[in-house]
Amino acid sequence: MHAPPPDAPILFFDSGLGGLTVLGPTRALLPTAPIVYAADYAGLPYGKKSNEELAARVPALLGRLVERYQPRLAVIACNTASTIALSHVRAALDVPIVGTVPAIKPAAEMTKTGVIGVLGTEATVRQPYVDDLSARFARDKTVLRHGSPGLVTGAEAKLRGESVDPAVIARAVAGLRDQPGGDAIDVIVLACTHFPLLHDELQAAVGPGVRLIDGAEGIARRVAHLTDGQRWPETATPGIAVFTRSEDRPPPSLAALAPYGIGAIETI
Ligand code: DGL
Repeated sequence: MHAPPPDAPILFFDSGLGGLTVLGPTRALLPTAPIVYAADYAGLPYGKKSNEELAARVPALLGRLVERYQPRLAVIACNTASTIALSHVRAALDVPIVGTVPAIKPAAEMTKTGVIGVLGTEATVRQPYVDDLSARFARDKTVLRHGSPGLVTGAEAKLRGESVDPAVIARAVAGLRDQPGGDAIDVIVLACTHFPLLHDELQAAVGPGVRLIDGAEGIARRVAHLTDGQRWPETATPGIAVFTRSEDRPPPSLAALAPYGIGAIETI
């Protein structure tokens, strides 16, 4: 591949606003990187979709986005899409792709009790990919999983400045803790990029003895590594957020996205 021009963006992709939790740490490492943030609002929530649907939808949509924005690299900032469609996307597109993987490996290194919780979407927690990660990196640990669609809705609401129903947070935590052995969980993997948007609410619900971890910093380092030596603009320019058109879900206000360096909203 030819060296990309300085203004070639990094494309972030999620079903909704969760991928902003990956965009944040990446911008901290690469402050002048041009950004396109894409959210598939017409497809949200991915956690309710079948593997077949996502394996077809995600590569097709990313293909359109890559054609339109010519990114130097694309980040699938969504655990659900990554655990299901990463290989399909890599096979279909001629651009480096970074995926999002549940942070089971660091959680296994961190736990003292040997019991880890994995909180993701319903689709993510049932993936064989999560079985593989558990078998490879947490063989001698207990890995308890729970799928919480409510946290996705809650995170979207919070970013729009709406209040988050405390019962949703409590239900998500109970979904892990009420399983046999769940009382001993001391590390919870936030295996959906939406969930770090609710970090404070979740931390308050689980108490100070439980650590919440996610993969965003690792992804940011991977992006920096893969683009090492490439040219960037001298100064930062506002990023673009692009939403797939949805009747029931209009894009959020620009004010909600401005803290993430977004300066314009488009639809596709
Ligand atoms: N943010 C997504 C993830 O990381 C999915 C949320 C959804 O669309 O259900 O899994």
